[in-house]
Amino acid sequence: MKLILLGAPGAGKGTQAEAISRQLGIPAISTGNIIREALQSGSPLGLAAKAYLESGALVPDEVVIGIVEERVAQPDCARGFILDGFPRTIAQAEALEQMGLDADLVLSLELEDGIIEERLSGRRICQSCGASYHIQYNPSSKGDACNLCDGPLISRQDDQPETIRQRLAVFHKQTEPLKEYYRERGRLRCVDSQERVEDTTALVLSALKEAAI
Ligand code: AP5
Repeated sequence: MKLILLGAPGAGKGTQAEAISRQLGIPAISTGNIIREALQSGSPLGLAAKAYLESGALVPDEVVIGIVEERVAQPDCARGFILDGFPRTIAQAEALEQMGLDADLVLSLELEDGIIEERLSGRRICQSCGASYHIQYNPSSKGDACNLCDGPLISRQDDQPETIRQRLAVFHKQTEPLKEYYRERGRLRCVDSQERVEDTTALVLSALKEAAI
């Protein structure tokens, strides 16, 4: 199965991608995580992406398309994959089709802009393994340490209020048109991002079932 998760920053794409990945046994691929890892390791990709990431702008299409092309060619993607945060522009969606990787289903996670700031300002990620938490909605049982690896939990640099607003503006202008793009192709399902993570997961799984995938 090839699944795309669309949605505004903070709508819960990463959280749901991990949940579905566990359920279906296929990898979740987050372009944001790949870019952040590159930044942390100081690789040329990371250095090239730094300014875009910090300002809330999109990394250029050709860079992200190259990342995805390389990642989906890995053996663990043979049975399918979940794309979290890709495509984000029409050009990226067209590139995916040109790779022969049309998605079976595109799930759009819907959440009002007003709630997004609360979700993102309360998000904490593990500095060591990248696991994601929320101080209120999905806390670590170990307080400021990661449940999985005991690493320190920190706020993401782009989760500051001004950058969140910029990311939202970019989403509405460049990424939201993808909903119409996939609706016209009969592949779009919209799911409301609920207040509880597990409720959203249940809706996502029932959308997959309805689509008979
Ligand atoms: P990326 O890392 O993909 O960020 P994003 O799309 O802005 O999405 P987020 O990771 O912020 O949110 P999410 O929807 O995954 O929500 P989450 O599950 O964490 O991209 C970062 C940057 O990389 C971009 O700005 C861009 O520069 C670059 N980039 C990446 N891909 C690119 C591409 N294709 N093209 C160009 N540039 C690209 O949830 C958020 C919080 O809410 C968490 O704390 C979570 O615990 C909590 N939460 C989740 N679900 C619920 C729920 N149901 N109820 C309550 N709380 C919840």
